[in-house]
Amino acid sequence: MHSLKNDRYLRALLRQPVDVTPVWMMRQAGRYLPEYKATRAQAGDFMSLCKNAELACEVTLQPLRRYDLDAAILFSDILTIPDAMGLGLYFEQGEGPKFSNPITCMADIQNLPAPDPEQELQYVMNAVRTIRKNLQGEVPLIGFSGSPWTLATYMIEGGSSKAFTKIKKMAFSEPQALHLLLDKLADSVILYLNAQIAAGAQSVMVFDTWGGVLSPRDYQDFSLQYMHKIVDGLTRENEGRKIPVTLFTKNAGMWLESIAATGCDGVGLDWTIDIDNAKARVGDKVALQGNMDPSMLYASPERIEQEVKHILAGFGEGPGHVFNLGHGIHLDVPPENAKVFVDAVHKYSAQYHKG
Ligand code: CP3
Repeated sequence: MHSLKNDRYLRALLRQPVDVTPVWMMRQAGRYLPEYKATRAQAGDFMSLCKNAELACEVTLQPLRRYDLDAAILFSDILTIPDAMGLGLYFEQGEGPKFSNPITCMADIQNLPAPDPEQELQYVMNAVRTIRKNLQGEVPLIGFSGSPWTLATYMIEGGSSKAFTKIKKMAFSEPQALHLLLDKLADSVILYLNAQIAAGAQSVMVFDTWGGVLSPRDYQDFSLQYMHKIVDGLTRENEGRKIPVTLFTKNAGMWLESIAATGCDGVGLDWTIDIDNAKARVGDKVALQGNMDPSMLYASPERIEQEVKHILAGFGEGPGHVFNLGHGIHLDVPPENAKVFVDAVHKYSAQYHKG
Protein backbone atom coordinates (compact mmCIF):
# COMPACT_ATOMS: atom_id res chain seq x y z
CA MET A 1 0.00 0.00 0.00
CA HIS A 2 1.19 3.49 -0.70
CA SER A 3 -0.37 6.69 0.49
CA LEU A 4 -1.21 9.40 -1.97
CA LYS A 5 -1.93 12.90 -0.71
CA ASN A 6 -4.07 13.73 -3.75
CA ASP A 7 -5.75 10.81 -5.51
CA ARG A 8 -8.54 12.75 -7.28
CA TYR A 9 -7.19 11.84 -10.70
CA LEU A 10 -7.22 8.08 -9.97
CA ARG A 11 -10.63 8.27 -8.28
CA ALA A 12 -12.22 10.21 -11.14
CA LEU A 13 -10.96 7.66 -13.68
CA LEU A 14 -12.65 4.94 -11.63
CA ARG A 15 -15.81 7.11 -11.42
CA GLN A 16 -15.50 7.42 -7.64
CA PRO A 17 -16.58 10.60 -5.78
CA VAL A 18 -14.13 13.53 -5.62
CA ASP A 19 -14.25 17.00 -4.02
CA VAL A 20 -13.38 18.90 -7.21
CA THR A 21 -12.71 17.82 -10.81
CA PRO A 22 -9.05 16.80 -11.28
CA VAL A 23 -7.05 18.47 -14.04
CA TRP A 24 -3.75 17.98 -15.89
CA MET A 25 -2.56 19.07 -19.34
CA MET A 26 -1.26 16.92 -22.17
CA ARG A 27 2.36 17.98 -22.84
CA GLN A 28 2.36 19.89 -19.56
CA ALA A 29 6.15 19.62 -19.51
CA GLY A 30 7.41 21.35 -22.63
CA ARG A 31 8.66 24.29 -24.61
CA TYR A 32 6.02 26.82 -23.45
CA LEU A 33 7.90 26.82 -20.10
CA PRO A 34 11.21 28.75 -20.03
CA GLU A 35 12.54 26.44 -17.29
CA TYR A 36 11.94 23.46 -19.62
CA LYS A 37 14.00 25.10 -22.37
CA ALA A 38 16.79 25.74 -19.87
CA THR A 39 16.87 22.10 -18.72
CA ARG A 40 16.73 20.82 -22.30
CA ALA A 41 19.70 23.06 -23.16
CA GLN A 42 21.54 21.60 -20.17
CA ALA A 43 20.83 18.06 -21.48
CA GLY A 44 21.91 19.03 -25.02
CA ASP A 45 18.89 17.79 -26.96
CA PHE A 46 15.47 16.23 -26.47
CA MET A 47 16.47 12.53 -26.51
CA SER A 48 19.40 13.18 -24.14
CA LEU A 49 16.87 14.81 -21.81
CA CYS A 50 14.66 11.69 -22.01
CA LYS A 51 17.67 9.44 -21.30
CA ASN A 52 18.81 11.35 -18.19
CA ALA A 53 16.60 10.21 -15.28
CA GLU A 54 17.43 13.20 -13.05
CA LEU A 55 16.73 15.78 -15.76
CA ALA A 56 13.63 13.95 -17.04
CA CYS A 57 12.39 14.02 -13.44
CA GLU A 58 13.19 17.73 -13.17
CA VAL A 59 11.11 18.65 -16.26
CA THR A 60 8.27 16.34 -15.14
CA LEU A 61 8.06 18.28 -11.87
CA GLN A 62 8.40 21.79 -13.37
CA PRO A 63 4.71 22.28 -14.30
CA LEU A 64 3.68 20.95 -10.85
CA ARG A 65 5.64 23.74 -9.17
CA ARG A 66 3.78 26.37 -11.18
CA TYR A 67 0.27 24.90 -11.24
CA ASP A 68 -2.08 23.03 -8.92
CA LEU A 69 -2.12 19.94 -11.17
CA ASP A 70 -3.67 16.66 -10.04
CA ALA A 71 -1.29 14.35 -11.90
CA ALA A 72 2.27 14.16 -13.19
CA ILE A 73 3.07 12.50 -16.52
CA LEU A 74 6.32 10.72 -17.21
CA PHE A 75 8.58 12.86 -19.38
CA SER A 76 9.49 10.73 -22.38
CA ASP A 77 8.18 10.17 -25.90
CA ILE A 78 6.02 7.62 -27.68
CA LEU A 79 8.80 6.90 -30.21
CA THR A 80 11.09 5.24 -27.63
CA ILE A 81 9.81 1.76 -28.66
CA PRO A 82 10.58 2.07 -32.40
CA ASP A 83 13.94 3.61 -31.47
CA ALA A 84 14.67 0.59 -29.23
CA MET A 85 13.67 -1.69 -32.16
CA GLY A 86 16.60 -0.19 -34.10
CA LEU A 87 14.90 2.37 -36.36
CA GLY A 88 17.26 5.20 -35.41
CA LEU A 89 15.11 8.04 -34.04
CA TYR A 90 16.37 11.60 -34.49
CA PHE A 91 14.85 15.07 -34.38
CA GLU A 92 15.56 17.61 -37.09
CA GLN A 93 15.17 21.24 -36.02
CA GLY A 94 11.61 22.38 -36.73
CA GLU A 95 10.68 19.18 -38.59
CA GLY A 96 9.67 16.83 -35.82
CA PRO A 97 10.72 13.19 -35.38
CA LYS A 98 12.44 11.16 -38.10
CA PHE A 99 13.73 7.58 -38.50
CA SER A 100 16.95 6.76 -40.34
CA ASN A 101 15.81 3.13 -40.92
CA PRO A 102 12.05 3.21 -41.63
CA ILE A 103 10.05 0.02 -42.27
CA THR A 104 9.59 -0.71 -45.98
CA CYS A 105 8.62 -4.39 -46.32
CA MET A 106 7.56 -7.65 -44.68
CA ALA A 107 11.18 -8.73 -44.14
CA ASP A 108 11.87 -5.55 -42.11
CA ILE A 109 8.87 -6.39 -39.93
CA GLN A 110 9.83 -10.05 -39.47
CA ASN A 111 13.29 -8.96 -38.33
CA LEU A 112 12.08 -6.45 -35.72
CA PRO A 113 13.18 -7.38 -32.18
CA ALA A 114 10.92 -7.06 -29.11
CA PRO A 115 12.74 -4.57 -26.85
CA ASP A 116 13.26 -5.63 -23.24
CA PRO A 117 11.92 -2.77 -21.08
CA GLU A 118 14.65 -3.26 -18.48
CA GLN A 119 17.42 -3.37 -21.11
CA GLU A 120 17.06 -1.12 -24.18
CA LEU A 121 14.33 0.92 -22.50
CA GLN A 122 15.76 0.91 -19.01
CA TYR A 123 16.31 4.67 -19.19
CA VAL A 124 12.50 5.09 -19.27
CA MET A 125 12.03 2.82 -16.24
CA ASN A 126 14.80 4.69 -14.41
CA ALA A 127 12.95 7.95 -15.12
CA VAL A 128 9.71 6.42 -13.76
CA ARG A 129 11.47 5.27 -10.56
CA THR A 130 13.21 8.63 -10.06
CA ILE A 131 10.02 10.65 -10.65
CA ARG A 132 7.93 8.44 -8.41
CA LYS A 133 10.45 8.81 -5.59
CA ASN A 134 10.67 12.59 -5.98
CA LEU A 135 6.89 13.04 -6.17
CA GLN A 136 6.71 11.85 -2.54
CA GLY A 137 3.08 10.86 -2.93
CA GLU A 138 1.87 14.37 -3.80
CA VAL A 139 -0.01 13.31 -6.96
CA PRO A 140 -0.14 10.12 -9.05
CA LEU A 141 2.29 9.45 -11.90
CA ILE A 142 0.91 8.64 -15.35
CA GLY A 143 2.90 6.32 -17.62
CA PHE A 144 2.21 6.20 -21.34
CA SER A 145 2.83 4.68 -24.73
CA GLY A 146 1.79 5.30 -28.32
CA SER A 147 -0.85 3.03 -29.86
CA PRO A 148 0.40 0.39 -32.31
CA TRP A 149 -1.23 2.20 -35.26
CA THR A 150 0.22 5.60 -34.31
CA LEU A 151 3.70 4.13 -33.77
CA ALA A 152 3.43 2.29 -37.10
CA THR A 153 2.61 5.56 -38.94
CA TYR A 154 5.95 7.06 -37.85
CA MET A 155 7.84 3.78 -38.48
CA ILE A 156 6.52 3.38 -42.05
CA GLU A 157 6.25 7.04 -43.12
CA GLY A 158 9.74 7.66 -41.65
CA GLY A 159 8.46 10.59 -39.61
CA SER A 160 5.43 12.87 -39.35
CA SER A 161 2.94 12.74 -42.20
CA LYS A 162 -0.13 14.50 -43.54
CA ALA A 163 -1.72 11.97 -45.91
CA PHE A 164 -0.27 8.69 -44.52
CA THR A 165 0.12 7.29 -48.04
CA LYS A 166 2.88 4.75 -47.28
CA ILE A 167 1.13 3.08 -44.35
CA LYS A 168 -2.25 3.09 -46.12
CA LYS A 169 -0.64 1.57 -49.20
CA MET A 170 0.60 -1.26 -46.98
CA ALA A 171 -2.76 -1.51 -45.18
CA PHE A 172 -4.67 -1.97 -48.42
CA SER A 173 -2.17 -3.93 -50.54
CA GLU A 174 -0.19 -5.95 -47.96
CA PRO A 175 -2.50 -6.11 -44.91
CA GLN A 176 -0.86 -9.23 -43.49
CA ALA A 177 2.47 -7.38 -43.23
CA LEU A 178 0.90 -4.42 -41.42
CA HIS A 179 -1.04 -6.73 -39.09
CA LEU A 180 2.19 -8.51 -38.16
CA LEU A 181 3.78 -5.15 -37.34
CA LEU A 182 0.78 -3.98 -35.29
CA ASP A 183 0.67 -7.27 -33.40
CA LYS A 184 4.40 -7.07 -32.59
CA LEU A 185 3.95 -3.47 -31.46
CA ALA A 186 0.99 -4.41 -29.25
CA ASP A 187 3.14 -7.08 -27.56
CA SER A 188 5.98 -4.58 -27.02
CA VAL A 189 3.59 -1.93 -25.68
CA ILE A 190 2.16 -4.43 -23.16
CA LEU A 191 5.66 -5.28 -21.90
CA TYR A 192 6.62 -1.59 -21.84
CA LEU A 193 3.54 -0.36 -19.95
CA ASN A 194 3.61 -3.26 -17.49
CA ALA A 195 7.26 -2.44 -16.79
CA GLN A 196 6.32 1.23 -16.21
CA ILE A 197 3.62 0.04 -13.78
CA ALA A 198 6.12 -2.22 -11.97
CA ALA A 199 8.52 0.75 -11.80
CA GLY A 200 5.83 2.93 -10.17
CA ALA A 201 3.42 4.37 -12.76
CA GLN A 202 -0.01 4.59 -11.08
CA SER A 203 -2.08 4.91 -14.25
CA VAL A 204 -1.30 4.50 -17.94
CA MET A 205 -2.49 6.23 -21.08
CA VAL A 206 -2.28 5.13 -24.71
CA PHE A 207 -1.92 7.95 -27.25
CA ASP A 208 -3.54 7.15 -30.59
CA THR A 209 -2.88 10.47 -32.27
CA TRP A 210 -3.58 9.18 -35.80
CA GLY A 211 -6.37 6.57 -35.47
CA GLY A 212 -8.82 9.26 -36.57
CA VAL A 213 -7.44 9.31 -40.13
CA LEU A 214 -8.94 5.86 -40.79
CA SER A 215 -12.40 4.86 -42.02
CA PRO A 216 -14.63 3.35 -39.28
CA ARG A 217 -13.95 -0.25 -40.35
CA ASP A 218 -10.24 0.34 -40.76
CA TYR A 219 -10.06 2.06 -37.35
CA GLN A 220 -11.54 -1.07 -35.79
CA ASP A 221 -9.23 -3.37 -37.75
CA PHE A 222 -5.89 -1.49 -37.66
CA SER A 223 -6.07 0.58 -34.49
CA LEU A 224 -8.75 -0.29 -31.94
CA GLN A 225 -8.27 -4.06 -32.16
CA TYR A 226 -4.66 -3.65 -31.02
CA MET A 227 -5.49 -1.18 -28.25
CA HIS A 228 -8.06 -3.74 -27.06
CA LYS A 229 -5.30 -6.36 -26.96
CA ILE A 230 -3.19 -3.95 -24.89
CA VAL A 231 -6.03 -3.28 -22.41
CA ASP A 232 -6.44 -7.06 -22.00
CA GLY A 233 -2.69 -7.53 -21.37
CA LEU A 234 -2.10 -4.79 -18.80
CA THR A 235 -1.52 -5.14 -15.06
CA ARG A 236 -4.68 -3.58 -13.63
CA GLU A 237 -3.72 -3.52 -9.97
CA ASN A 238 -0.46 -2.76 -8.14
CA GLU A 239 0.52 -1.72 -4.60
CA GLY A 240 -3.05 -2.46 -3.50
CA ARG A 241 -4.62 0.03 -5.93
CA LYS A 242 -6.33 -0.17 -9.30
CA ILE A 243 -4.25 1.05 -12.25
CA PRO A 244 -6.67 2.96 -14.49
CA VAL A 245 -6.10 2.79 -18.25
CA THR A 246 -7.04 5.66 -20.57
CA LEU A 247 -7.31 5.37 -24.36
CA PHE A 248 -7.09 8.57 -26.40
CA THR A 249 -7.78 8.54 -30.12
CA LYS A 250 -7.79 12.03 -31.57
CA ASN A 251 -10.78 12.73 -33.84
CA ALA A 252 -12.74 9.71 -32.68
CA GLY A 253 -15.92 11.22 -31.23
CA MET A 254 -18.02 9.08 -33.54
CA TRP A 255 -16.48 5.85 -32.21
CA LEU A 256 -16.79 6.32 -28.42
CA GLU A 257 -19.02 3.27 -27.89
CA SER A 258 -16.51 0.88 -29.45
CA ILE A 259 -13.59 2.48 -27.57
CA ALA A 260 -15.49 2.21 -24.26
CA ALA A 261 -16.24 -1.46 -25.05
CA THR A 262 -12.51 -2.37 -24.85
CA GLY A 263 -12.73 -2.39 -21.05
CA CYS A 264 -10.55 0.70 -20.56
CA ASP A 265 -11.33 2.96 -17.58
CA GLY A 266 -11.05 6.35 -19.27
CA VAL A 267 -11.55 7.70 -22.78
CA GLY A 268 -9.75 10.85 -23.91
CA LEU A 269 -11.75 13.38 -25.94
CA ASP A 270 -10.50 16.07 -28.27
CA TRP A 271 -12.51 19.30 -28.59
CA THR A 272 -14.53 18.28 -31.66
CA ILE A 273 -17.24 16.63 -29.55
CA ASP A 274 -19.45 18.08 -26.80
CA ILE A 275 -18.70 16.37 -23.51
CA ASP A 276 -22.43 16.17 -22.65
CA ASN A 277 -22.99 14.14 -25.81
CA ALA A 278 -20.03 11.87 -24.94
CA LYS A 279 -21.30 11.42 -21.36
CA ALA A 280 -24.81 10.51 -22.52
CA ARG A 281 -23.37 7.84 -24.80
CA VAL A 282 -20.65 6.18 -22.70
CA GLY A 283 -20.66 7.87 -19.27
CA ASP A 284 -22.09 4.78 -17.57
CA LYS A 285 -19.13 2.67 -18.75
CA VAL A 286 -16.05 4.90 -18.65
CA ALA A 287 -14.67 8.14 -17.28
CA LEU A 288 -14.06 10.96 -19.76
CA GLN A 289 -10.89 13.01 -20.07
CA GLY A 290 -10.91 16.37 -21.81
CA ASN A 291 -11.75 18.44 -23.67
CA MET A 292 -10.91 22.13 -24.03
CA ASP A 293 -9.44 23.30 -27.33
CA PRO A 294 -5.74 23.94 -26.50
CA SER A 295 -5.92 27.15 -28.58
CA MET A 296 -8.34 28.57 -25.98
CA LEU A 297 -5.19 29.20 -23.90
CA TYR A 298 -4.38 32.11 -26.26
CA ALA A 299 -7.58 33.86 -25.11
CA SER A 300 -8.21 36.24 -22.21
CA PRO A 301 -8.55 34.93 -18.62
CA GLU A 302 -12.30 35.68 -18.80
CA ARG A 303 -12.72 33.70 -22.02
CA ILE A 304 -10.72 30.74 -20.62
CA GLU A 305 -12.85 30.71 -17.45
CA GLN A 306 -16.05 30.90 -19.48
CA GLU A 307 -14.97 27.88 -21.54
CA VAL A 308 -14.02 25.88 -18.42
CA LYS A 309 -17.44 26.61 -16.89
CA HIS A 310 -19.13 25.58 -20.11
CA ILE A 311 -17.36 22.21 -20.23
CA LEU A 312 -17.95 21.58 -16.50
CA ALA A 313 -21.66 22.30 -16.97
CA GLY A 314 -21.68 20.02 -20.02
CA PHE A 315 -20.39 17.10 -17.94
CA GLY A 316 -22.67 18.13 -15.09
CA GLU A 317 -23.05 16.44 -11.71
CA GLY A 318 -21.08 13.51 -10.39
CA PRO A 319 -17.71 11.83 -10.81
CA GLY A 320 -16.07 10.45 -13.93
CA HIS A 321 -14.49 13.58 -15.42
CA VAL A 322 -10.78 14.35 -15.65
CA PHE A 323 -10.38 17.85 -17.07
CA ASN A 324 -7.71 18.24 -19.74
CA LEU A 325 -7.02 19.94 -23.02
CA GLY A 326 -8.26 18.14 -26.13
CA HIS A 327 -4.64 17.74 -27.30
CA GLY A 328 -1.17 18.92 -26.24
CA ILE A 329 -0.57 22.49 -25.06
CA HIS A 330 0.89 24.71 -27.80
CA LEU A 331 4.49 25.81 -27.41
CA ASP A 332 3.77 29.57 -27.63
CA VAL A 333 1.00 29.71 -25.00
CA PRO A 334 1.66 32.23 -22.18
CA PRO A 335 2.39 30.13 -19.05
CA GLU A 336 0.14 32.36 -16.90
CA ASN A 337 -2.87 31.38 -19.03
CA ALA A 338 -2.34 27.73 -18.08
CA LYS A 339 -2.64 28.82 -14.43
CA VAL A 340 -5.97 30.52 -15.14
CA PHE A 341 -7.16 27.28 -16.74
CA VAL A 342 -6.08 24.92 -13.93
CA ASP A 343 -7.39 27.18 -11.15
CA ALA A 344 -10.73 27.67 -12.92
CA VAL A 345 -11.30 23.90 -13.07
CA HIS A 346 -10.92 23.56 -9.30
CA LYS A 347 -12.78 26.78 -8.48
CA TYR A 348 -15.86 26.17 -10.60
CA SER A 349 -16.19 22.38 -10.29
CA ALA A 350 -16.90 21.99 -6.52
CA GLN A 351 -20.61 22.67 -7.12
CA TYR A 352 -20.86 19.51 -9.27
CA HIS A 353 -19.49 17.25 -6.51
CA LYS A 354 -21.86 17.89 -3.62
CA GLY A 355 -24.09 14.80 -3.84
O1 CP3 B 1 2.59 15.23 -21.82
C1 CP3 B 1 3.76 15.35 -21.36
O2 CP3 B 1 4.15 16.38 -20.79
C2 CP3 B 1 4.69 14.14 -21.43
C3 CP3 B 1 5.62 14.12 -22.47
C4 CP3 B 1 5.26 13.71 -23.91
C5 CP3 B 1 6.09 14.13 -24.98
N1 CP3 B 1 5.64 13.51 -26.11
C6 CP3 B 1 7.23 15.04 -24.85
C7 CP3 B 1 7.75 15.67 -26.06
C8 CP3 B 1 4.27 12.89 -24.43
C9 CP3 B 1 3.10 12.24 -23.72
C10 CP3 B 1 4.53 12.76 -25.84
C11 CP3 B 1 3.73 11.92 -26.74
C12 CP3 B 1 3.92 12.02 -28.18
N2 CP3 B 1 5.08 12.17 -28.90
C13 CP3 B 1 2.87 11.87 -29.12
C14 CP3 B 1 1.44 11.55 -28.78
C15 CP3 B 1 0.73 12.70 -28.20
C16 CP3 B 1 0.34 13.74 -29.18
O3 CP3 B 1 0.85 14.85 -29.09
O4 CP3 B 1 -0.54 13.42 -30.01
C17 CP3 B 1 3.44 11.98 -30.41
C18 CP3 B 1 2.68 11.92 -31.71
C19 CP3 B 1 4.83 12.15 -30.26
C20 CP3 B 1 5.87 12.25 -31.34
C21 CP3 B 1 6.59 13.52 -31.20
N3 CP3 B 1 7.59 13.74 -30.29
C22 CP3 B 1 6.31 14.75 -31.87
C23 CP3 B 1 5.27 14.94 -32.94
C24 CP3 B 1 7.18 15.70 -31.31
C25 CP3 B 1 7.23 17.17 -31.61
C26 CP3 B 1 8.32 17.57 -32.53
C27 CP3 B 1 8.46 19.07 -32.58
O5 CP3 B 1 9.59 19.51 -32.78
O6 CP3 B 1 7.47 19.78 -32.39
C28 CP3 B 1 7.96 15.06 -30.34
C29 CP3 B 1 8.99 15.68 -29.50
C30 CP3 B 1 8.55 15.98 -28.12
N4 CP3 B 1 7.98 15.07 -27.28
C31 CP3 B 1 8.70 17.22 -27.43
C32 CP3 B 1 8.21 17.02 -26.13
C33 CP3 B 1 8.20 18.01 -24.99
C34 CP3 B 1 9.33 18.48 -27.99
C35 CP3 B 1 10.81 18.23 -28.09
C36 CP3 B 1 11.65 19.42 -27.80
O7 CP3 B 1 11.86 19.74 -26.60
O8 CP3 B 1 12.13 20.00 -28.77
